[in-house]
Amino acid sequence: MTTINTNYNVYLVGFMGAGKTTIGQSLAHKLGLDFIDLDSRIEENLNLTIPGIFETYGEKGFRDLETEALRYSSERKAVISTGGGIVEKEINMGIMKGNGRIIFLDAPFKVLYERIKMDPNRPLVKGKREELEERFLKRRKRYEQANYIIDTDECSPKEVVDEIVFFLNE
Ligand code: S3P
Repeated sequence: MTTINTNYNVYLVGFMGAGKTTIGQSLAHKLGLDFIDLDSRIEENLNLTIPGIFETYGEKGFRDLETEALRYSSERKAVISTGGGIVEKEINMGIMKGNGRIIFLDAPFKVLYERIKMDPNRPLVKGKREELEERFLKRRKRYEQANYIIDTDECSPKEVVDEIVFFLNE
């Protein structure tokens, strides 16, 4: 285990398929911190799946639940994997910047799209590829406000985790 002398959360942001959950679990383990997957938190709170939440409350409703879960989760010191749309609301950026370090897991859209295109658990993937790419491009500007950006495309999960630990220790 590697310890970091910090009193803040580590937020992982990035588009769907960037590996936020996998990297987050492994990073938390390495740092001896709690791990929170925001989407799982929301699902548990409502006892509904993400597609079920989108069906019942729409995207707008989901975004409000996401902010609520972020607020609640940010009170603990943990590694927090966020959903790809966390950057859609400015207020979420404020919460994360206020008490954490934000790490952007970057990868080209075409790589991400190949990973997510068949996934029935991601409601936003059902639309047209062009629309999703537009969303990606818009969000990228927000993701880039992170404290640290990693190009994950050519790296193994272990390399990504090690790079984050190195950054946090700087
Ligand atoms: C979303 C990403 C998903 C989930 C929901 C909406 C988005 O999380 O929060 O389907 O808006 O990009 P992942 O990034 O973990 O797939």
